[in-house]
Amino acid sequence: MNHFSYRAGRLHAEDVDLVRLADDVGTPFYVYSTATLQRHYRVFAEAFPTGTLIAYSVKANGNLAVLRTLALLGAGADVVSGGELKKALKAGVPAERIVFSGVGKTGREMRLGLEAGIHQFNVESEPELEALNEAALSLKTRAPITIRINPNVDARTHAKITTGTSETKFGIPWSRARAAYAKAGKLAGLKVVGVDVHIGSQITALEPFEEAFTRVADLVRSLRGDGHEIARVDLGGGLGVPYRAGDEAPPEPAIYASMIARRTQDLDVSLILEPGRLIAANAGVLVSRVIYNKQGEAKRFLIIDAGMNDLIRPALYDAHHEIVSVKETAADAPRTRYDVVGPVCETTDLFASDRELPSLSSGDLVAIMTAGAYGAVMSSAYNARPPAPEVLVKGAEWSVVRPRLSDDDLIGLDRIPAWLG
Ligand code: LLP
Repeated sequence: MNHFSYRAGRLHAEDVDLVRLADDVGTPFYVYSTATLQRHYRVFAEAFPTGTLIAYSVKANGNLAVLRTLALLGAGADVVSGGELKKALKAGVPAERIVFSGVGKTGREMRLGLEAGIHQFNVESEPELEALNEAALSLKTRAPITIRINPNVDARTHAKITTGTSETKFGIPWSRARAAYAKAGKLAGLKVVGVDVHIGSQITALEPFEEAFTRVADLVRSLRGDGHEIARVDLGGGLGVPYRAGDEAPPEPAIYASMIARRTQDLDVSLILEPGRLIAANAGVLVSRVIYNKQGEAKRFLIIDAGMNDLIRPALYDAHHEIVSVKETAADAPRTRYDVVGPVCETTDLFASDRELPSLSSGDLVAIMTAGAYGAVMSSAYNARPPAPEVLVKGAEWSVVRPRLSDDDLIGLDRIPAWLG
């Protein structure tokens, strides 16, 4: 459910008319709904027992205003870089609600986390255990750790967002888990607190999760048998969202949570979840204006002013995003098949292929839906295009939460070395 709907013939974000917003901020732009973010967070959090840490995965949408909206509801944060850690702290997420994941944490990033006093590090390799141990000892502290295990479970999602099979770089292989914990147990700078797993993203079936969590539960029992104190399990993120009208809906948070309860209730552990997409995806859309309607030899193109530099998911993962006209059209209005493309000089700058849409022309506005997660965060300035700005709406209020850089701002980031004159 989201808060983007037609009123008086125009798409609104909550009470804000997107035609007027486009006039005020210019296109393209991302717009997020506070009510949708809040609703998604609450529905998810309320499905789990009190004491569960919901560590919102900052990588999905790390805008400070989005993080602050969630922090005010009590969300923690899952971060994967020093930058994300600083953002979460700045947005008001308490350090003790932050978990630090990622395969390539550097010594500098480890020290940032240790100095802040974060909840835990999710360690992904044996060399990382040693590096974190050294960082902690140098600061005369102990790092609370889980080890992310790679359960070798196929999440049955897109190959490029699968993380829990043995071919991927993530986690320590299931078969070496006990040995890695034994190693961690001997390092004075580390304090083993739990087990972590994350098998992928946009997962729409319950079974892969259940398979992975069963392995985690078995591992918790073995590790306790080996003498480790395992007080927490971090089950990662990954629950998918519906992108396409008519797609089978992914499991409801309540169904997912009750499966987790079944798998973990006899373990006496506290739970950590790291949802990202589920909170943010349907809370955002990318609004863009049609530049040209162009007839090619084989196809008709709708060339819009957003490009793959603003939203790369279709180019990178063949991802489907619904595209709607911001002005509501009658059910019997003429429709046309378009390839909806951006201005970037790449054939893969393609938002939708052979998509039937209401007939549109230059100046009309479209909204690319379900763009609140892995949208703005993955944008770039390719083709010297300043990425789309971001707007947060709350009721009838709106605020630009990341402005558009001007061409000169962007160009001003480059430096010409003295030897070039
Ligand atoms: N925890 C860890 C350790 C992760 O690596 C991720 C996502 C999450 C949590 C959050 O997963 P979510 O609940 O959002 O599925 N750019 C891709 C998705 C990459 C996901 C990376 N890891 C996309 O646009 O589909």
